[in-house]
Amino acid sequence: MYFELKKICERPSLWAEYTAESLWTHPDTAPGMLDFHLNSELDIASRRAVSIDATVDWLTSRFGVDIALCDLGCGPGLYCSPLAEQGMRVTGVDFSRHSLAHARRRASRRKLTARYIQANYLDWQPDSRFDLVTLIMCDFCALSPTQRQQLLANIRRYLKPDGHLLLDVYSIEAFAIKEERCEVEHNQLNHFWARDDYYALVASFVYPQERVSLDRYSIFEANGQERTIYNWLQYFTPLELKQELAQAGFETVNLLSDLTGKPYQPGSTEFAVVCRQMSS
Ligand SMILES: C[S@@+](CC[C@H](N)C(=O)[O-])C[C@H]1O[C@@H](n2cnc3c(N)ncnc32)[C@H](O)[C@@H]1O
Repeated sequence: MYFELKKICERPSLWAEYTAESLWTHPDTAPGMLDFHLNSELDIASRRAVSIDATVDWLTSRFGVDIALCDLGCGPGLYCSPLAEQGMRVTGVDFSRHSLAHARRRASRRKLTARYIQANYLDWQPDSRFDLVTLIMCDFCALSPTQRQQLLANIRRYLKPDGHLLLDVYSIEAFAIKEERCEVEHNQLNHFWARDDYYALVASFVYPQERVSLDRYSIFEANGQERTIYNWLQYFTPLELKQELAQAGFETVNLLSDLTGKPYQPGSTEFAVVCRQMSS
């Protein structure tokens, strides 16, 4: 038992595994994820309704509505639906069939022209171009440096030459409060991980030099099934993010506190940027 626990709690090498698809689309977790998205009072999976409404208002005032928008990791379409209602030509991309089914039901009820595509946005290659690409709720932070460069290179191919990319990230202030720990919980989060009885062993690590954290969930079910989910997060300073975007050919035009358009305030645990392609 000692050696098994030692192995489960061992620190993995940085960005060792990418398990986002299992986290978001596993048949046991997808319904719970959708519940988190749709909970208008919680900032889990999606932001609370009041923040989403404020973002939608700011997006339409900043970019207008006569534009083609692509929302990467759109989830159940909490931004796509209201923006399509206002007249934006909206495409949502997500690998969660469960969330997209919700988004499509809403679009069909309200007779919206929003288009939803089930794909992994890391390798998705559309045949049309967009005025605005969004990646909302700090999804950029869940990607390794190589994946981030791959995604940015792809976005450059489908962003119009004068188009914009909008994304938000966690700041180093959020990293400062991360701690290493190892805990076991029975049926953690009220059966979030599995319908069957299970134990979740959560091992949290920090990588101070690279400013990355990892929460690794090892799930052991009574029926003998086991799975491991790696939740990596990169934390940025505004300068680091601007430099990384510049390396990929993007110039930052607005540095913001959040996605409601407020100017950047040092000390906040998240911030956002609007950027556009540098001319080559
Ligand atoms: C934190 S949630 C944010 C959802 C939405 N942007 C919002 O704020 O309401 C991340 C979403 O991205 C999707 N996702 C994560 N990685 C993805 C990938 N590589 N390809 C496609 N979808 C992805 C997940 O399924 C999930 O719906």
